[in-house]
Amino acid sequence: MFFLSQLVFIAAFFPSSLRCRFCGQNDVSRQFEATNGVVCKALGCSGKIMCVHPNYKRGKIDFSDDNKDRILIEFDSLQEQNKYGNPVGKERGKRHSFREFSEQRFEFTPQTTASYQGIRAKNFNFTSTLHANNASLRIMVYMFEGHGNITFGNETTEMREGMLKFNIEIKNWQFCGKNDTDEECNAGDEGEFIDLTLVIKSKGKPKQKSENEQRGKDGKRRHPRCFRTIRHKKCPKQFDIGGDSEIVLSSQVMVDDEIRDMPGNGDYPKFKETANKQKFILRFPKAANRIFYDPGLEVGEADAGALALKNLPHLSLALLVLRFILF
Ligand SMILES: *[C@@H]1O[C@H](CO)[C@@H](O)[C@H](O)[C@H]1NC(C)=O
Ligand SMILES: *[C@@H]1O[C@H](CO)[C@@H](O)[C@H](O)[C@H]1NC(C)=O
Ligand SMILES: *[C@@H]1O[C@H](CO)[C@@H](O)[C@H](O)[C@H]1NC(C)=O
Ligand SMILES: *[C@@H]1O[C@H](CO)[C@@H](O)[C@H](O)[C@H]1NC(C)=O
Ligand SMILES: *[C@@H]1O[C@H](CO)[C@@H](O)[C@H](O)[C@H]1NC(C)=O
Repeated sequence: MFFLSQLVFIAAFFPSSLRCRFCGQNDVSRQFEATNGVVCKALGCSGKIMCVHPNYKRGKIDFSDDNKDRILIEFDSLQEQNKYGNPVGKERGKRHSFREFSEQRFEFTPQTTASYQGIRAKNFNFTSTLHANNASLRIMVYMFEGHGNITFGNETTEMREGMLKFNIEIKNWQFCGKNDTDEECNAGDEGEFIDLTLVIKSKGKPKQKSENEQRGKDGKRRHPRCFRTIRHKKCPKQFDIGGDSEIVLSSQVMVDDEIRDMPGNGDYPKFKETANKQKFILRFPKAANRIFYDPGLEVGEADAGALALKNLPHLSLALLVLRFILF
């Protein structure tokens, strides 16, 4: 028994110490919070972001795996694709396919008070350089403290206090091309897209909302709402991810200062469940220099219903005691 528990201990801790061996001193996490609502933690090693609502009742911020209301966003992979949607680049290379985020080091900025399209927010950024490719990946997090509409291309979404964005920017990605001297490109490889895969851990299985639901017609006015107007004709894809949380994924992306639809006739952003992981695949077109993407997130609060449920055992016990006394 003792031996077994030792084994479990080693099995649990050995891989994690291996995993962060390249991050070294940078293996830190930092906590950021908006004055009213959501609290996020970003990990210097791997670039994971987790967000929770403080449990006001107990005055506790719980980032542990036990907190089912926690949202965890992980960067899973970057994969260059050709125009047919097939991967390009040599199999073991890192320049055209990157999956080693667990060993990837991120640098943080301090948290500042900012304004995003006129809405007051707390902002922090974290950046990492993919050395093999000379590309950089930067995540800009905005935690909103006010409300207003955010427009990206032909999409407008109403954001409110407590919601957040984590904009994604990829710079200087070197694509395989016709006259390439890059030894990690196969002959004839021509990169057209980058597929970025995010893994989201949340309370429930993601369920895409219809446009009617997104426009607030389900009566849930506090969720991110989409408005279609003459100028802004489209709605981003919106997924209910359980626990009253939602993720808003635009189907448009900025490519070198021009906003375009994601390739793939509306297939992307794509939700896919594999090996018990909830994956969202974003497809970015080839850019000379910069790709910029603008997702939104609402982190649900552990609501009154959940609290009532938790109290139910005590309640039924009280009823039982009452019945015992009465009869
Ligand atoms: C984060 O990046 C944005 C865009 O480059 C910049 O405007 C902002 O000042 C940065 N924030 C911090 C806290 O450095
Ligand atoms: C790497 O990117 C920087 C700009 O960020 C550029 O000045 C430099 O020439 C690039 N190096 C290579 C090898 O492409
Ligand atoms: C967002 O835009 C819609 C439509 O133009 C408007 O009805 C709504 O009040 C706006 N929301 C905010 C918070 O400004
Ligand atoms: C937005 O809609 C207009 C009019 O339909 C169209 O010309 C333009 O290309 C669209 N822009 C984007 C980024 O989709
Ligand atoms: C590739 O090289 C050929 C011949 O050297 C040239 O004609 C062609 O324009 C080049 N293509 C690109 C995309 O640079």
